[in-house]
Amino acid sequence: MKVSQGKSNAKIILMGEHSVVYGKSAISLPFFAAEVTAKVEEVSEGVEIISDYFSGPLDEAPSILNGVKELIDTVLKRLDMKSSGLKITLDSKIPAQRGFGSSAAVSVALSKALYNLVGQTLEPTALRELVEKAEKIHHENPSGLDGDTIVSQQAIYFIKNKNTSNIKINMDLDLIVGDTGNPASTKTAVQTVYNNENRDSEIEKLGQLSQAVFLNIKNQDSILMGKNMTQAHQSLKALGVSSDELDEFVDVAIESGALGAKLSGGGLGGCMIALSEKNKSQLIVDALKKQGADTIWILDLKEI
Ligand code: PMV
Repeated sequence: MKVSQGKSNAKIILMGEHSVVYGKSAISLPFFAAEVTAKVEEVSEGVEIISDYFSGPLDEAPSILNGVKELIDTVLKRLDMKSSGLKITLDSKIPAQRGFGSSAAVSVALSKALYNLVGQTLEPTALRELVEKAEKIHHENPSGLDGDTIVSQQAIYFIKNKNTSNIKINMDLDLIVGDTGNPASTKTAVQTVYNNENRDSEIEKLGQLSQAVFLNIKNQDSILMGKNMTQAHQSLKALGVSSDELDEFVDVAIESGALGAKLSGGGLGGCMIALSEKNKSQLIVDALKKQGADTIWILDLKEI
């Protein structure tokens, strides 16, 4: 009986969440500190799934796993495999619903594991397509940013339905990621923005700020980059997708010396990111811990 594995990483949006849904540019980074592993084993009968949400026959899985179900179905058809005799184990260390793209990461790991089982190569374009299919079930109108960042494993400059380009940040700075510990639904956040009366003007601002940060990276201008990030947080707040905790984290990070800070991902919960000079990072981390951050990570932007 064969066994195979697939692995994937998470992602962090630097700039452009929400406005990316409306065709504006976004910048997103791979996040390797959290991983998901999918294991597929051949067994005598049935399709069984073991995951944090549910363990048992795939047919009986709750609706939260509808994207996973759809993905398995599509891949089995594409690979001409019969839909029985499989045990699928999903082991995710990526906190769900915190803006890390955990659902896209699960789709990537699972697709890789299924293709590995039959010894077939999975090209990035086909992988992206599979991820998008599953993501459409999680929220109706995904921009594709999560899937593209996770599949490319590099920092990307992204515009919906256009070519994605890999970029290098290469700045001597840290990006501090503070998790509020509060899960939030991307679907609800996207709807909140859609219904906001100031949507068009704030989306326009967010698009310009994202474009500005792209130039700040090119010019290695950390001061302006920080300011633009904080302004983006103000627009996201005006769109109704911040939270008290996220606002507090942003304030605390800036008071402790961050060059700028904002929420990252869908918002309404999840994570804050703060741009920091290396010698300030520890102060910011300590302040965020005191403020109740659930988990804190430091990404070295020189490495990305
Ligand atoms: O999956 P999250 O919570 O990181 O958010 C995705 C980013 C959004 O712009 C809010 C939605 C999208 O489809 O791009």
